[in-house]
Amino acid sequence: MTLYRARLVDTPVDPFAGGGLRAEEDGGIVVDEAGVITARGPFAAVRAEHPDEVVIDLPGGMLLPGFVDTHVHFPQVRVIGGLGMPLLDWLDQCALPEEARLADVAYAKGVARDFVTGLVDAGTTSALVFGSHFATAVDSMFAAADVAGLRVTTGLVVSDRSLRPELLSTPDRAYGEARGLAERWHGHGRLRYAVTPRFSFSASDAMLESCAATFKEVQGSWFTSHVNENLFEVAEVRRLFGGTNYVHTYANHGLVDRNSVLAHNVHPVDEELALLASQGASVAHCPTSNSALGSGLFPLRRHLDHGVRVALGSDVGAGTGFSLLKEGLQAYFMQQLLAAEGVALTSAHLLWLATAAGADALGLADEVGDLSVGKQFDAVWVLPQAGNPLDVGLGNARSTLDALAKVFALGTTTDIEGVWVGGDQIAAGRFRRPASR
Ligand code: GUN
Ligand code: ZN
Repeated sequence: MTLYRARLVDTPVDPFAGGGLRAEEDGGIVVDEAGVITARGPFAAVRAEHPDEVVIDLPGGMLLPGFVDTHVHFPQVRVIGGLGMPLLDWLDQCALPEEARLADVAYAKGVARDFVTGLVDAGTTSALVFGSHFATAVDSMFAAADVAGLRVTTGLVVSDRSLRPELLSTPDRAYGEARGLAERWHGHGRLRYAVTPRFSFSASDAMLESCAATFKEVQGSWFTSHVNENLFEVAEVRRLFGGTNYVHTYANHGLVDRNSVLAHNVHPVDEELALLASQGASVAHCPTSNSALGSGLFPLRRHLDHGVRVALGSDVGAGTGFSLLKEGLQAYFMQQLLAAEGVALTSAHLLWLATAAGADALGLADEVGDLSVGKQFDAVWVLPQAGNPLDVGLGNARSTLDALAKVFALGTTTDIEGVWVGGDQIAAGRFRRPASR
């Protein structure tokens, strides 16, 4: 067993439902050999109960739960930053030419390595990853996540229309390849399978029906896709499906339930929000992507009023990086810009959205999302370099809520000093390894 000493900050209870920050300024956490937190409290009290454990000291900054990214594309890590285009132009000119390159297995392996590095460096410990159109590339993704020790849910991206030909498949082939991937990887270590039609714009009813078969037959699999992202795209989907609402194009095939995460949902009608809420499905809010592509301002208030579960996604590569601190800050900005229609977000809301809400969306809330006894020790040590503006800000913070706001406002991936998944340290920062004594 190991005893960690740190400033602990987490959100065990939803701040949108009356919860708030939980903090232990000089905290202690005991982690057993299985990576499970067995004790937590003021360091002095925990130490008194565990006088013989090795202590890992994490002085300065703060220790947060590992971040949970509910929407991030592995084949797009090398095209982050393609600015200046709306969704369909960006797909044609930026994302899809790169995605076609993943037909080459060696290339895909390199991309998977870059992608995993991006997640780990950002402190992301769990992710719902949009895969590749090529099964061999998805194998590479699963393998890279397995080696890194990340909690990753991913799968084959499928489409049978409207994209460049090398990215298209057929319902039968998609089903066969998906079942093969699920057989090889679903339930292996921390990995799970995600049924992933790219979006209804590029998937016929027959393809969605083949997705439904995999979703039903692979117990515990996840479903993910895009929805209501861009006004032109939304109108096209309505036309293609004879006037059907976008969410309903998936729901009509049984693809919308508690194991479903739909990305964006910037332009929903109330009927869709009601359906998402009644089915217990989640929405991945991707604020930097929505800004970069000019997709729109996310109607968080309407999601909350309808009772739809919402978490954060980086949406790399339309999103501008892996940091969920940056996504949290951008979510805050956009709600501010909505003025009276927006939700006034505190740093507690941002931390919830970046951690526990994501764990909930991915069905991992019993295992991760906060630093409670009984959960896996998935954690991120945020430690700014001495004298940098975040370090100065933390030294002058008026409260824990204020200190955490500074972490969201000023924190970058270079401030991530340590990352743990299930008690295993998977990354150590630039300055030092944590001292043990
Ligand atoms: N809709 C369909 N594919 C994509 C994608 O790769 N990124 C985003 N942001 N939206 C999409
Ligand atoms: Zn996306």
